[in-house]
Amino acid sequence: MSDKETLKQELKKRTEEIDRLLEERLPEEAGHQKTILEAMNYSVRAGGKRLRPMLMQEVCRLFTGTVLDTVPPFMAAIEMIHTSSLVHDDLPCMDDDMMRRGKASTWAEFGEDIGVLAGDALMMYAFETASAAFEACAEPGDAAAVGRAMGILARKTGVFGMIGGQTVDVELAGGPIPRDKLDFIYRLKTGALIEASMLIGAVLGGAAQEDCKIVETLAAKIGMAFQIQDDILDVTGREEVIGKPVNSDEKNAKTTYVTLEGLDKAREYVQTLSEEAIGELNKLPGNNEFLEDLIHLLINRQK
Ligand code: IPE
Ligand code: IPE
Ligand code: MG
Ligand code: MG
Ligand code: MG
Repeated sequence: MSDKETLKQELKKRTEEIDRLLEERLPEEAGHQKTILEAMNYSVRAGGKRLRPMLMQEVCRLFTGTVLDTVPPFMAAIEMIHTSSLVHDDLPCMDDDMMRRGKASTWAEFGEDIGVLAGDALMMYAFETASAAFEACAEPGDAAAVGRAMGILARKTGVFGMIGGQTVDVELAGGPIPRDKLDFIYRLKTGALIEASMLIGAVLGGAAQEDCKIVETLAAKIGMAFQIQDDILDVTGREEVIGKPVNSDEKNAKTTYVTLEGLDKAREYVQTLSEEAIGELNKLPGNNEFLEDLIHLLINRQK
């Protein structure tokens, strides 16, 4: 494992690279619909950890030793979709939160109507952005992989993925949720986009079918651990650090892993899931130390 300082520097460098890659692909703020373009760009530029594009890139590197040209359009796309999910998640009709990524939530800045539209627009713009990967194909088989990746992106975003999970999350808010339903919510609302990130990295990297399966399994574990850690930070974190309100779950009477199992068990489970994810990672051919470090880092993340 790399030492902490080296890893921190490396993480910063990669985050900045992803910021640039996104910036190059954001729409110009012009035309009669300028307001929504400003709102889309505002939500993306507000920052964030850029975890999903980072995971995608590292999985491609794991299988190919490099980041193929078809990958950056999808890296930008997954971050746009994730950001769109946050824009909608903060709306008054959902979690009703006024702060995101250390700034006013998109709806708080631009109004609720533009908040809804900007989330929709960003989700669609993500697919437009990803489609540029067709032009970046180098080998004859690449277009088929890009087509598959588009399908994965759509499915994991939609009703069988993130949106499906968010539906059950808001529907069941205010009452008790049994463990199996909570698992379902987490697997979809958070796990699905992390699965999409890693699976697309594998598919574009030409991974074999059985290795794609392993990647999906390990991503699901990371996704679950990530959401439980998010629940923990909702209770134990500081607003200045997490960049969003604390105690949002309590405000919305959400059942979470923390309310269901307690803090200690939640922490333990994050650790177990992350170790299991590393176990899956070690089954794959190739080696990516940074990816392994990144998974370890997520266990004790403070934001
Ligand atoms: C927040 O995701 C929403 C969850 C799925 C828990 P992140 O914690 O990745 O948010 P950003 O992108 O860093 O702002
Ligand atoms: C949201 O879960 C997951 C999404 C799909 C956006 P949360 O509602 O816990 O996310 P935060 O805490 O607002 O980032
Ligand atoms: Mg929510
Ligand atoms: Mg929320
Ligand atoms: Mg949360």
